[in-house]
Amino acid sequence: MDKLTLSIPTGRLKEEVLELLARMPGWPASCNLNTRKLVFEDECLPCRIILSHPKDSSTYVEFGAADIGIVGKDILMERENEVYELLDLGIGKCQMIIAVPLSVSHHVFFNKDHLRIATKYPHITRQYLQEKGITADILSLYGSIELAPTLGLADAIVDIVSTGKTLRENHLQVLESIAPVSARLVANLISIRTRMDAIRHFVQQLKGVIRNE
Ligand code: PRP
Repeated sequence: MDKLTLSIPTGRLKEEVLELLARMPGWPASCNLNTRKLVFEDECLPCRIILSHPKDSSTYVEFGAADIGIVGKDILMERENEVYELLDLGIGKCQMIIAVPLSVSHHVFFNKDHLRIATKYPHITRQYLQEKGITADILSLYGSIELAPTLGLADAIVDIVSTGKTLRENHLQVLESIAPVSARLVANLISIRTRMDAIRHFVQQLKGVIRNE
């Protein structure tokens, strides 16, 4: 039977994911995935590995280019990919939050006539605003979101916060927490049926590693 194809996100999560995998039975203690290659089919690896952009990992799984994949919950919430969520890996933990300048109170913010919110997560922001019954313009940016309120481009940001350092250094504060975020293992909806045994085996092994932390 062919090996499962596993999509691993590049960026922040990659090293933590590789550490988890290295502790799974049958995995080499260290795999050198720090080349410019994006597909790894080495015989010593129990899975075929593809390295994808963090925002694309669940899309490769959704469209069947990978049977299983690791992806941040923030991306799953934003993209709403049709994938099966199998396991919370307990790594890459952070919070989706709305943040405002230190000088702005809860009362002042929610009583403003016209709000503009900067974010890399327009879909999550739209849903949050709908739930709160707030009307606001959404400004989609690619990164360094914390700049927007500092330069008067937006009243608030919706973003992830991990250590809180970026917020602090840009004189911002959390107004509300929207959702907890962590890395998830997801599966393709067809693979979950056709490769059920292999996926179940992978999940059991991964659960064992997570439990023993
Ligand atoms: C993320 C996020 C915040 C920062 C939070 O950005 O968008 O800016 O990390 O981390 P902290 O709470 O530990 O400071 P990232 O580093 O991914 O870069 P980007 O802003 O260019 O997207």
